[in-house]
Amino acid sequence: MSLPAAGGAGPDELIFSVNGRKIVEKNADPEQMLLSYLRKRLRLTGTKYGCGGGGCGACTVMISTYEPASKNIKHYSANACLLPICSLHGVAVTTVEGVGCTKTRIHPVQERLAKCHGSQCGFCTPGMVMSMYTLLRNHPEPSMEQIAAALAGNLCRCTGYRPILDGCKTFCKEPFCCQSKENGNCCLDQEDKLKGEKFSTKLFSADEFQPLDPTQEFIFPPELMTMAENQPKRTLVFQGERTTWISPASLKELLELKAKYPKAPLVVGNTSVGPEMKFKGVHHPVIISPARILDLNVVRYTDNGLSLGAACSLAVVKDALANTVSELPGEKTKIFRALLHQLKTLGGQQIRNISSLGGNIMSRKSTSDLNPILAVGNCTLNLASREGTRWISLSDIFANGVGNNTLMPEEVLVSVHIPHSRKGEFVSAFRQAQRRENALPIANAGMRVLFAEGTDIITDFGIFYGGIGSTTVCAKHTCQALIGRHWNEQMLDEACRLVLKEVSLPGSAPGGKVEYRRTLIVSFLFKFYLQVLQSLNRMDPHLYPDISEKYGSVLQDFQPKMPQSEQIYQQEVNPEQLPRDPVGRPIMHQGGIKHATGEAVYCDDIRAVDEELFLAVITSSRAHAKIVSIDTSEALKAPGVFDIITARDVPATNEFYYYSDPEIIFAKDKVICVGQIVCGVVADSDVHAKQAAAKVKIEYEDLEPVILTVEEAIKHNSFFEPQRRLEQGNVDEAFETVDQILEGEIHIGGQEHFYMETQCALVVPKGEDKEMDVYVSTQHPALTQVGFMNDGRIMAADAKYYINGGCTPDDSVLVAEVVLLKMDNAYKIPNLRCCSHACKTNLPSNTAFRGFGFPQSGLITESWITAIAAKSGLSAEKVREINMYKETEQICYIQELDPENLVRCWNECMEKSEYYSRKTAVEEFNKQNYWKKKGIAIIPMKFPFGLLTRFLTQAAALVHIYMDGSVLLTHGGIEMGQGIHTKMIQVASRELKIPMSSIHFCETSTTTVPNACASVASAGTDVNGMAVKDACQTLLKRLEPIISKNPKGTWNDWVKEAFEQSINLSATGYFRGYEANMDWEKGEGHPFTYFIFGAACSEVEIDCLTGDHKNIRTDIVIDIGCSINPAVDIGQIEGAFVQGIGLYTMEELKYSPEGVLYTRGPDQYKIPAICDIPEQFSVSLLSSSQNPYAIYSSKGIGEAGLFLGCSVFFAIWDAVAAVRKERGLTGTFTLNSPLTPERIRMACADQFTELILVLAHSVGSDTRLQAPISRREFTEADATHCPHCSKSLKPAGKSQKARRGCGQSTCEKH
Ligand SMILES: Cc1cc2nc3c(=O)[nH]c(=O)nc-3n(C[C@H](O)[C@H](O)[C@H](O)COP(=O)(O)OP(=O)(O)OC[C@H]3O[C@@H](n4cnc5c(N)ncnc54)[C@H](O)[C@@H]3O)c2cc1C
Ligand code: FES
Ligand code: FES
Repeated sequence: MSLPAAGGAGPDELIFSVNGRKIVEKNADPEQMLLSYLRKRLRLTGTKYGCGGGGCGACTVMISTYEPASKNIKHYSANACLLPICSLHGVAVTTVEGVGCTKTRIHPVQERLAKCHGSQCGFCTPGMVMSMYTLLRNHPEPSMEQIAAALAGNLCRCTGYRPILDGCKTFCKEPFCCQSKENGNCCLDQEDKLKGEKFSTKLFSADEFQPLDPTQEFIFPPELMTMAENQPKRTLVFQGERTTWISPASLKELLELKAKYPKAPLVVGNTSVGPEMKFKGVHHPVIISPARILDLNVVRYTDNGLSLGAACSLAVVKDALANTVSELPGEKTKIFRALLHQLKTLGGQQIRNISSLGGNIMSRKSTSDLNPILAVGNCTLNLASREGTRWISLSDIFANGVGNNTLMPEEVLVSVHIPHSRKGEFVSAFRQAQRRENALPIANAGMRVLFAEGTDIITDFGIFYGGIGSTTVCAKHTCQALIGRHWNEQMLDEACRLVLKEVSLPGSAPGGKVEYRRTLIVSFLFKFYLQVLQSLNRMDPHLYPDISEKYGSVLQDFQPKMPQSEQIYQQEVNPEQLPRDPVGRPIMHQGGIKHATGEAVYCDDIRAVDEELFLAVITSSRAHAKIVSIDTSEALKAPGVFDIITARDVPATNEFYYYSDPEIIFAKDKVICVGQIVCGVVADSDVHAKQAAAKVKIEYEDLEPVILTVEEAIKHNSFFEPQRRLEQGNVDEAFETVDQILEGEIHIGGQEHFYMETQCALVVPKGEDKEMDVYVSTQHPALTQVGFMNDGRIMAADAKYYINGGCTPDDSVLVAEVVLLKMDNAYKIPNLRCCSHACKTNLPSNTAFRGFGFPQSGLITESWITAIAAKSGLSAEKVREINMYKETEQICYIQELDPENLVRCWNECMEKSEYYSRKTAVEEFNKQNYWKKKGIAIIPMKFPFGLLTRFLTQAAALVHIYMDGSVLLTHGGIEMGQGIHTKMIQVASRELKIPMSSIHFCETSTTTVPNACASVASAGTDVNGMAVKDACQTLLKRLEPIISKNPKGTWNDWVKEAFEQSINLSATGYFRGYEANMDWEKGEGHPFTYFIFGAACSEVEIDCLTGDHKNIRTDIVIDIGCSINPAVDIGQIEGAFVQGIGLYTMEELKYSPEGVLYTRGPDQYKIPAICDIPEQFSVSLLSSSQNPYAIYSSKGIGEAGLFLGCSVFFAIWDAVAAVRKERGLTGTFTLNSPLTPERIRMACADQFTELILVLAHSVGSDTRLQAPISRREFTEADATHCPHCSKSLKPAGKSQKARRGCGQSTCEKH
């Protein structure tokens, strides 16, 4: 292939700058992204590699460009993982290292994020710093709204965002209080209320922050300015190993190139081409970059609209539209406003900064948020090729689906014209995504109608949908059929029927959610109908009917609001505590500053060693299959390949044991899940290893059965042993005497850990005695029968739990045990029988998540409590109160429980949340609003602490005192961001009575502390704290004689003297662990050490037409004893709570029928972002709580907060119940977790969901619709099905119930 070379010479030099340093790259590779260049080439590892696809924000950097004509310097944030280095010629890159570092000075952004406790694991922190830093470069005193927008593209898995926002808000000019005088309750009033009491709401002191001084920032490198001004613009060519990058300087050259290489993509933002190359293995030998061509960057305001160059970024488009909207009369800007509506939530700020308008249009993706509006708005495209230019209507490119030939391969999109809207014309945009911000839409729509002047007679109508077919689709026939009709209900009714017939969505449509997406098609249409009706009424109230506020409120989208928060803790545990004693104080995370400067070294950041090799694994594509052959011949020939390792190369032990069943390292003869490791390619770079891995060919022969679900596991009797049961009282007898029995089934989805840090391991052979240094980053459903009295007392419960354990046991059996031991949550159930089973399936092995089964069993318990309340006519909080533990008594496995603090938390939460008055307000709101509903719920929590056996809670520590008085501390706990090292330094500081600054922590290693137990079950601080205390006390005892001889001496004097007296200044500390036991045969034991109590009240609002919801307010009261570090502990509670919001309302794992996980990475799997945290969020630590069992009377707090996230789930349930009641659906119902927009919408049954069902039946149904919600309801016991085969059962009489094994109805066969 002949390629244009610059002036006939070889490839060009790529010149740009990083943190002020000029970079000249002679061999720029078009396939290399900035992220890997920074991390590998420049060894700037502060910029983190999270997802690699633009979805997480961990790799955020600031890009600065200089425009010589206007002398304009622009700064914008961008995802380094998507930026090809070749696109950076002439630009300045700033990374977290360039913003500030501990060696010179740290920047105020870094300081404030760290000191406001905005980092836990710290992996997201550099990205957060860079997003905020870029905002400050453009707006030194940003508004709250700007901050929320700047951070919307950055995910954090640990903190729950509150402390990050706290740090960022300190730059705002606006006061950072809630400013809400609603209900007379502002956060500052609260602080006043607390004055004089021994409480504090302050976790940091803003007084000590350095001011932001914009004059201290990097300037744009003058050399790059001179280069931009003096160098004539010419074509640039960069040549890589496999790809050539050509960046023409003029449109003419671009058209020549496109004619020569018609298949070459035009890459601007690379946000569409990049992920395809990276994740789908698409290879382009030639890439053309049109970004520098002026014609493609114009923004031109014309008499009849706005013309935008195809290479304009979406951020530029947004600004241009916003400017026009602010200047022109509203009548002309309806299309512009509809586009702005979509642009507000399209991607994150970083994506909008780099992705282009042309790229969004020309990719013709079904998920484009812009194309439905541009198409419906009659926008036109200016296309150019060597043959000339032409204008076409944008809607033409979707006429017959994505493969139509309206566009020729050699054509280039130059610009887009967006016309003004006309008088009598209405345009709207709709979208619904899994998450409100930074998520591709599930479905979207653009709608436009034009009326004959002065009437409501339709003269032109347009409807385009996204997310429905393979590209944007048009409801052309529907619209044509409605021309001439009046805008009234008859028209709407017909429009819904026609559109559902025209816009077909078969049951097997990719993306699933078919029933939901069909419902959205008509729900959006209904919203448009209401919107237009409202506008017509405003134009002429006499002629057109008003839509009452009750129906109209659904037209207001949930507006993003900067969350306001409050944290209340007891200020001083002990009035005699010395000021230098750090225990009980909100001390900053010891890694905080290093996180914020990017200096913290994660496993993947460790410097490459000489002759380093990389391993890429090849995993099974089958769920259950025999391996027939592995062909490595092609892969072995690939560049850089060193070797390929299979099971044959591991002759000794190709397996390891976690429990009784072995885990296989390399699959030998067969595979038991998709994703199981079969072999690994070793190569000289990660890129070569991955390229070669793609060439390994594995032949399989499928095996039966393939078990993927719990139902299939039950059918095949596929379980891990042992299966556990627990019994108390006499359930059968109780069922004979109760007033009512409820039966039901609840499904709870799994949850990804989704840690932001990528998994990797580094092994460094040391050369002697085979020594090696190994660096690693380590660490469902139920069937229930409940008998209760009409007064709400629960007399008996019979529950069966099934957990999808995956293909190996891992922790699943233990999780199943914990599910049983914690299933009572806060309630006394006099007669109880429950059993749990870990199902063995052909999914990748599942393991424990924060809470170890309690968040799941607790949710099930709270679900049947809610169902009982509905059935008995009592409020849910009454049923909770009636059944709550109230006095010291034995829980079902005979362990004693004192629930005093449970009741205190409940009462305080009731009071702090003003539950009853807000409940009344919610009911009032629901009366006033038909399509929007609010819900409120308060949930109690008893979280037992412990690991069921003693040896798992043993811990050790090692403390050295050096002759200069400094102390080195290490212990067996793993720092995952939970602040364990900070707390251990606090413990050592208190014990040795020296400042924290004299104590250095040395990273956990098996060379210093052997046999360390896992840092799990919230026990890290408890057990390691005891060990650190023990070591310090040993040392202090040795020093005591010296101190008593010289009490006025300093620490250094005593240490020096001790050394001179040959006293050992090194000590180990040890903690044996907590006594614990459980006899499963007898169902008795003392498995837990103590209990953490809490209560959370949450309020939400739902949109009944789309299933969207907003978290309005959450109040948490939690008993964590005497906190060692309130900032760290509150951070844990908030972070866990937000993960709970994820578990119960958002995070959804979807598998293909073949067992392939669809939901991989942040594009598919949505964890909460800033837009998901409650607008008002308060956490109070229960005062005056003591815990004799743990260090300094504290309590282990890592996990408990997650369960409290279910208060949001039940608040949504409450809102859905209000909807169903209003629609006359009076039966009890069950909602499965997570409560996604899809589930919420489908539970809000109405005429539209009904229409979908009717139409599906009338067309003989190729739609595999889900069972309507009523079939999955919690029902009375006499209407049930066999869980093994779904055969319906005859009404069960009381005697029949008594025969059931574990409380479960089955058919005769099962
Ligand atoms: C994390 C993430 C989140 C996103 N969220 C959303 C979202 O919520 N809503 C949404 O609508 N989109 C979303 N997107 C998609 C994004 O908006 C598009 O990928 C982007 O607009 C494409 O522009 P680009 O410049 O990056 O295209 P590139 O990847 O550079 O190019 C894309 C394609 O367009 C063609 N092309 C580009 N310019 C021209 C031209 N002038 N003439 C002819 N062909 C051209 C190229 O040949 C190429 O095939 C998201 C993307 C990411 C990565
Ligand atoms: S690593 Fe770039 S956005 Fe996730
Ligand atoms: S601190 Fe944000 S991901 Fe861990």
